[in-house]
Amino acid sequence: MLSTNIKEATKTAHQNLEKQVVLKLKAIRNHADYADLLKHFYAYFSHIEQTIKPYITGSVLPDYEQRRNSAYIKADILELGSDISEIPYTTVPKIENTVQALGALYVLEGSIMGGSIIVKMLEKVGVNKGVSFFSGYGEATGKMWGNFITVLNEQAKTEQEEEQAIKAANGTFEHFAHVFKKEKADTV
Ligand code: HEM
Repeated sequence: MLSTNIKEATKTAHQNLEKQVVLKLKAIRNHADYADLLKHFYAYFSHIEQTIKPYITGSVLPDYEQRRNSAYIKADILELGSDISEIPYTTVPKIENTVQALGALYVLEGSIMGGSIIVKMLEKVGVNKGVSFFSGYGEATGKMWGNFITVLNEQAKTEQEEEQAIKAANGTFEHFAHVFKKEKADTV
């Protein structure tokens, strides 16, 4: 099943990205630092959302409009007293059909899974506002994830389609990690 294979096949890419995000989180000392982290998320999520939008129609994923998206990140950045006038440069993988778009969306939706851990890490350094994005769907998180996984499995009907979704998911992780890595390279 795609949901099992995609998790296994993207394990390394997830770990690499998680490492980048944790490094950033550990360096947070104030609301401005946290807003900077959110700008990385905003730049990347808004870019990839635009890329996948043509392929995630209402008939593919009926509740897409109700799902958490980069508008939440923007609202959090504003709540922290910052703005989105300067955001990092981003690149995204090539997305040309619905299964690839769902592979990318798997990464965006899955990021909610680590969200509660991130909120706890932020609390420890005194950040307790601007957390709507990382709070995900609250108690509805399991149900929303289940609905998404059902659609993901239904759409990938052949082995080739599974492969396309997995490749897009890995690409989505890698391009996101690059947003953080590039910044480090620029400051050395
Ligand atoms: C501090 C950073 C992060 C931590 C600590 C973290 C942690 C986790 C944890 C604990 C899970 C659940 C694993 C399980 O139940 O088997 C998970 C799942 C997942 N995370 Fe992360 N994560 C982080 C960042 C991210 C980011 C930034 C993304 C993507 C943009 C992401 C994408 C995913 C995906 C797609 C899954 C679902 C895997 C699956 O069940 O198929 N994570 N993460």
